[in-house]
Order: sequence, then structure tokens, then C-alpha cells
Amino acid sequence: MSATGEQAQTGVLEVDGLCTDYGPVRAVADVTLSVEPGRVTAVLGANGAGKTTLLRTISCLVPAREGRVRLGERELLGSAVEDVVRRGVAHVPEGRGVIGELTTEENLRLGGLWRGAPAEDLDEVYELLPALRERRRQPASSLSGGERQMLSIGRALVARPSVLLLDEPSLGLAPLISARIMELVRRLANERQLAVLLVEQNARSALAIADRGVVLNLGRVVADADASELADDEDMRQAYLGF
Ligand SMILES: Nc1ncnc2c1ncn2[C@@H]1O[C@H](COP(=O)(O)OP(=O)(O)OP(=O)(O)O)[C@@H](O)[C@H]1O
Ligand SMILES: [Mg+2]
Repeated sequence: MSATGEQAQTGVLEVDGLCTDYGPVRAVADVTLSVEPGRVTAVLGANGAGKTTLLRTISCLVPAREGRVRLGERELLGSAVEDVVRRGVAHVPEGRGVIGELTTEENLRLGGLWRGAPAEDLDEVYELLPALRERRRQPASSLSGGERQMLSIGRALVARPSVLLLDEPSLGLAPLISARIMELVRRLANERQLAVLLVEQNARSALAIADRGVVLNLGRVVADADASELADDEDMRQAYLGF
């Protein structure tokens, strides 16, 4: 248990009727979805569709206007950001957010600061991501784009989450590296029973490893289907998925 008494939770992540406004603009409009432990749901849609806002609302970085977000039995909305992390939700933001002046290992330790980051935790992350161990004394600014992305995922894992929110983890990466990141996401769901919400522009590669796909348009859910069904849907592909 942490200092504030907040305990990590497991269970299904349930988003119900979620709405988020920026002033007069409704960025997330009545979104309902759920992700079970061990499952990956890809969140797809054009620029400005509301994907990032959805993740930021779930992790309480922006306030919801309406709706509920539950993890297991408990409501997440209205929690302080650090309590969301303590409750088991890890958010890897768009643009990665690693600190270039710090080494790989220092960045990883930051991810576990609130729970004291026992050494075993870093070993676990290094086992999953061996490239990080080799680079552990290097400043993060000297890492390649793919390594930096792995570091930001690794940093989220140090907090031992049960839910992982990933915002465009393959952005700007070469196809081969992007495929490795997707494989890693799949493995994390399988081996650690994480519930993963994966926001991606690259719909094809996200659907290849996801269980479900949710398509957003102007903040609304326009499709919520099995990933393979969605990938085979010509109309959806033409209208929203771009492949
Ligand atoms: N801080 C903000 N203030 C005002 N409006 C915002 C803010 N952030 C996002 N928006 C607006 O909300 C809508 C959804 O943006 P969001 O960033 O969630 O989309 P996205 O699907 O993540 O897009 P992208 O694929 O470009 O990352 C857009 O119309 C955007 O302009
Ligand atoms: Mg975004």
C-alpha cells in the first residue's frame, strides 16, 4: 500500500458515456468502451478525432464533462493524477516525455519514484527490454527514437500498472522498429495481463496485434469491433483507416 492508502487495482477498464470539452469544443463525445486484462484495444481515427483527449481524460489530466471511468469496482474520474498512477493506470504520452539530460536508468527510476523503485523492478524491465540495459548509463538524449520509445514504455512499467494507455508509440519510427514496439505491446498484454488502450495512426499495424478496434470520428465512436473484422471492413478502411 502506498503512503496515501491508494491501492493498485486490477480488473476491467470501463469507459461509459465519456464526454470532454475544451471550451465550446466537444473533443470526446459519449465514448463507451471497455478493455479486459490481457486485451489490447486499438483506438483509431484521423487527426483531431479525440484520441489523445480520451487517454488524457481517463488518466485525469483533463476533466470529464460527463460519464464514468471505472477500473475494477472503483471510479477513477476525479482522482488526483498521482492517485491514478497508484491505482494502476500508466499513461505513455504522445511525444514520449523522457528527460534527455537524465540517463536511461534515471528515467526508469523516475517511473517508480512513488513506490521506491526496488532494484528488482528495474531488472524486470531490463529483461523485457534488453536494449535498455545496454544503454542504462547513457543520457536519454543519445538514444534513438525507437530506444526512447522503449524507455518511455519501460518507465511506465516500473510502476507495475494493470492498465497501459499508449499514445502513438510508433510515431516517427521506421516500420521495422514500429513492428517491434507493436510486438512488445502484445507481449505485455499476454504476459502481464495488462489491459492496453493503444492509440495509433498506423491502423494496419495496430489492428494486427489488437483484439478490438475502436474508431473515433469528431470525438464519437463510429465503430467498435473485433480487430480482424475491422481490418477486413472495406468501407471503414476507406473512410477512416487509410489502408
Ligand atoms: N488543450 C486543448 N485546448 C483546446 N482544444 C484542444 C486541446 N487539445 C485538443 N484540442 C482539440 O480537441 C480535438 C481533439 O484533439 P486530440 O488531440 O484529442 O485529437 P487526436 O485524435 O489525438 O489527434 P492527433 O491524431 O492529431 O494526435 C481537436 O479538435 C483539438 O483541436
Ligand atoms: Mg493525439
